[in-house]
Amino acid sequence: MNINFSVDEAVQKRYSVRNYMKQELKADVKEKIESFIQSLDNPFHKDVHFHFLEIKETDDQQKLGTYGVIIGAERYIGTTIKQEEMALEALGYELETLILYLAHLGIGTCWLGGTFNRKAFANAMSIGDDELFPIITPYGYPASQKYIKEAIMRKLVQADHRKDWKSLFFRDDFQTPLMKELAKDLAFPLEMVRLAPSASNKQPWRILVKDNACHFYEYKEPKYSDRFSYDIQRVDIGIAAAHFDLAVKEKGIKGNFVLDAWPDLSLPENMEYVFSWIRE
Ligand SMILES: Cc1cc2nc3c(=O)[nH]c(=O)nc-3n(C[C@H](O)[C@H](O)[C@H](O)COP(=O)(O)O)c2cc1C
Repeated sequence: MNINFSVDEAVQKRYSVRNYMKQELKADVKEKIESFIQSLDNPFHKDVHFHFLEIKETDDQQKLGTYGVIIGAERYIGTTIKQEEMALEALGYELETLILYLAHLGIGTCWLGGTFNRKAFANAMSIGDDELFPIITPYGYPASQKYIKEAIMRKLVQADHRKDWKSLFFRDDFQTPLMKELAKDLAFPLEMVRLAPSASNKQPWRILVKDNACHFYEYKEPKYSDRFSYDIQRVDIGIAAAHFDLAVKEKGIKGNFVLDAWPDLSLPENMEYVFSWIRE
């Protein structure tokens, strides 16, 4: 995977675009997207499949349905995985890497895990029953203004707001917040995680820095994922992994992701260990 854009700039530029201009993509964009997808990989070594869909007719848009959440979009990318451990995190990692690349190209996207008609999109994208189909995103040039429902949705989940450092990052145990001033060269990758998108903007990632490792945990909101057959917040943790990994790589900080390096600690309620990043 070769990232040739500024991570900080792409992270700042990306937001959930729910109103799209009806405009063709520039000539070479589709090829660029396809070859970027070819180059994608993830630290969890699970396959993520991408499916493209173009819809021209307004009829089709209504039939397919994003429950009025997305308007004007004529192109979608769907993602599927095999239902296995770390696959949701792999999907979060790869799709977010693609979404940041698209933001860098000036192309808008919007993670959709809930507000789309899964059956209709699965049909239109020829996705089989044996695949898990958690997420789609529209993509295209953003319209110049947000529409009313979009603005209301953003207010509801406080989309422009993020939790502060002391709620997200810890040092040695979960009683000691990690202050940005003490994070040294990890300040940038952790800040990139803090700014990431998440389902309903719940920001379920918690990172505990201990010795030479960053341990990633999911603060699993009780009942939140009950309406899905999988834990959608695991996708958020994969998104956090992407922001962290792209940032450390950009800064030349070397390390590896491992799955079984949890420290011996008592955990707050609803906290689940997911993986660690160990500095080389
Ligand atoms: C895994 C995931 C699923 C999401 N599902 C939806 C969805 O179904 N509908 C929607 O309108 N937004 C969805 N979002 C977008 C979030 O609400 C949005 O990222 C968050 O409010 C932060 O706003 P921002 O993306 O503009 O920074 C989802 C985001 C993620 C990461």
